[in-house]
Amino acid sequence: RRGHVPAPPLRRAALGLLLQVLLGWGSAQQPGSCPAPCECSETARTVKCVNRNLTAVPPDLPPYARLLFLTGNRLSSLPPGAFLSPPLSPLENRLELADNRLLSLPAGMFSSLPSLQHLDLRNNSLVSLQAATFHSLAQLQSLDLSHNSLKCLKNATIAQLRSRPALRKISLDHNTWVCDCCIEHLVSWLKESDQVEGKGALKCSYPDKIRDKPLVKINSSDLDCSYFSYMTSYVVLVISEIVTFHVFVQCLEQRGLNVIGL
Ligand SMILES: *[C@@H]1O[C@H](CO)[C@@H](O)[C@H](O)[C@H]1NC(C)=O
Ligand SMILES: *[C@@H]1O[C@H](CO)[C@@H](O)[C@H](O)[C@H]1NC(C)=O
Ligand SMILES: *[C@@H]1O[C@H](CO)[C@@H](O)[C@H](O)[C@H]1NC(C)=O
Ligand SMILES: *[C@@H]1O[C@H](CO)[C@@H](O)[C@H](O)[C@H]1NC(C)=O
Repeated sequence: RRGHVPAPPLRRAALGLLLQVLLGWGSAQQPGSCPAPCECSETARTVKCVNRNLTAVPPDLPPYARLLFLTGNRLSSLPPGAFLSPPLSPLENRLELADNRLLSLPAGMFSSLPSLQHLDLRNNSLVSLQAATFHSLAQLQSLDLSHNSLKCLKNATIAQLRSRPALRKISLDHNTWVCDCCIEHLVSWLKESDQVEGKGALKCSYPDKIRDKPLVKINSSDLDCSYFSYMTSYVVLVISEIVTFHVFVQCLEQRGLNVIGL
């Protein structure tokens, strides 16, 4: 008959487990395990480091991560290699960077994530974009840039986004679009493409004359980008520079006279 005392192998296993727990307590994170500020699920292939006031991406994220949530932190800049830490290369699915403080996206920032499908940059402080940032994201399907401070998109950036056939959901609402000549390319893209979701809601923030006018309703007479008006403003600029220079030279001459006068 079996006694009340556990069999030796079982006892040894229990002791081993106890030792492991005691030794593992408070020790450094093992490579590939879940970083302290995050919650990880291997079955869901998800890592969530949400609302933790993080100022940098935690190092050594687990290699199974396919969905990475860094929402609601204090990330204000990310070095080009931010997602290069070796195990993270196959981040295929989703990268959530919403509700941070990102000011710019350096070229090559996402170059280690070539199979990323969904990128959420909502509610950051982005003022402009450069085409090279999106160069490597050939599989991108959705891109959320709403609630930022974008003023204009350059033609090269638009060309980069246009060249992504799978990219069908781009969000650009709640930005501070400046409706001067620079906005021309964005306006004509919006008019002819369905890539931008809810494009009718995009509005000019400046100048006051056409504030709140929908971008899709802007026409050439609103922008006044004619060669003549361009030349006029150029001539005015040149004249004002000449006047400034003249005043500066006069000022110098006066000082020179004073110096000689001493
Ligand atoms: C983040 O910072 C805010 C304000 O400093 C604080 O109230 C909050 O508790 C912090 N959150 C965490 C997870 O540390
Ligand atoms: C933007 O993010 C901040 C925290 O970074 C949050 O307090 C604010 O409510 C968010 N705004 C929107 C419109 O989501
Ligand atoms: C803007 O880009 C488009 C391609 O998307 C091109 O056809 C057009 O010539 C470009 N315009 C300028 C002014 O560079
Ligand atoms: C531009 O739009 C205004 C109304 O906003 C309209 O009166 C004008 O005819 C339009 N001009 C052109 C060239 O389409």
